[in-house]
Amino acid sequence: MTLTMTPSQQLLTPQLEIRGGRQLSGEVRVSGAKNSALVLMAASLLTEDSLRLRNMPALSDIGGMGDILGALGVGIDRGSDWVELKADSLNQASPPYELVNSLRASFFCIGPLLARLGVARVPLPGGCKIGARPVVEHVKGLKALGAQVTIEHGVVSAVVPGRGHRLSGGRIHLDCPSVGATETLMMAAALADGESVIENAAQEPEVVDLAGLIIAMGGKVRGAGTPTITIVGMERLHGADYMVIPDRIEAGTFLLAAAITRSRLRVTPVIPDHLRAVLSKLEEVGCRLEPDGIGMTISADHIRAVDLRTQPFPGFPTDLQAPFMSLLATADGTSVITEAIFENRLQHVGELQRMGAAIRTQGNIAFVEGVPSLSGAPVTGSDLRASAAMVLAGLVAEGTTVVQGLHHLDRGYDNIEGKLNALGASILRSNG
Ligand code: EPZ
Repeated sequence: MTLTMTPSQQLLTPQLEIRGGRQLSGEVRVSGAKNSALVLMAASLLTEDSLRLRNMPALSDIGGMGDILGALGVGIDRGSDWVELKADSLNQASPPYELVNSLRASFFCIGPLLARLGVARVPLPGGCKIGARPVVEHVKGLKALGAQVTIEHGVVSAVVPGRGHRLSGGRIHLDCPSVGATETLMMAAALADGESVIENAAQEPEVVDLAGLIIAMGGKVRGAGTPTITIVGMERLHGADYMVIPDRIEAGTFLLAAAITRSRLRVTPVIPDHLRAVLSKLEEVGCRLEPDGIGMTISADHIRAVDLRTQPFPGFPTDLQAPFMSLLATADGTSVITEAIFENRLQHVGELQRMGAAIRTQGNIAFVEGVPSLSGAPVTGSDLRASAAMVLAGLVAEGTTVVQGLHHLDRGYDNIEGKLNALGASILRSNG
């Protein structure tokens, strides 16, 4: 049954009104990485000392993770781009359901809680629009470290039996290089008794960032960024003062904003090694890239079609598939995009079609025939990155595009319209 909103409720839907057709210019600053900051916040549970994280993005998901940690008894102090966390008096091992239900990343708490307290009860994160989001690998790995894990009534309950309730080092082979499972198991292993090896581990930069934090806290981690990570568990970890890496997905989104508007922009900071597959595709479609050691200048005039397939890092990131499709919808020629990571991450196709894009899908493959221009229309972003894709399409569409679904967008982008307007875009955030 679809609920139709009353006119007044429709009036309360926040939206972005984007007047297309404007070129961008200047320089845009990339915030700290959401998908690193969230897991680094959870790592504060591994020590009773104070953990300070800098270069934190101002995102609703970050606030949500702070609420969840606060509910567990973690002391929190925060500034504009930093947070200080102190888990010296954890009062319970299970974050409240109503908070967890709104934030998948809350599942990051299960590994450190189990390592620290020997017990953890965390509601299943549940699926979302892009896929089922199973946690089979996370659970399998925690069992390999000595935990007894049951799943009942949507709650994952884990306990370490025996004296001291301490996890034991073990060898884990992941069936798929899951980012969340790799990070969960790194945190659990960091306090386990003995050495752990994670094989077929995810190699994402955010995994490497977590390893850097655990080492800064006195932990022993080797091989992060490769398929095999070795962790030697410690009795305890101490606090740290740590800088979060820049958000490679936000950086890629702004590089695509330059490409789709055929503009010249400087995006900073950009770590090229975090975006090799994306930079290669941008050059393949005809963009010119000039790295300068800190940032990257991109310029584009003619955009050609290209084929791309999403893959685990270092392959093309699934999080930039939708934004890249917006670019290819305006390219010269037909592109074939294969979404090979999530089972349902082509929902932005329908919204792009409403803007005049010529796209046909067959399963997880989209055939994108570039059109000379898109036309502004009311559209809705179905998930975080699909919303970003609609904003990019609106920048170049003729007329005005109204993008709804901003609760998704604000989870992953820190003031995207402010940053784009400073570059010359014309975007108004309104309440409908
Ligand atoms: C992380 O999600 C990111 N989120 C996602 O970013 C990102 O898209 C994803 O990694 C892939 O790069 C955070 O870091 C908070 P996975 P995660 O476990 O850890 C399958 C965004 O927009 N799988 O690597 O949940 C799974 O179904 C978000 O910022 C299993 O089959 O991703 C999916 O198809 C979206 N079994 C694939 O692996 C498992 O036990 C990748 O999932 C676990 C995962």
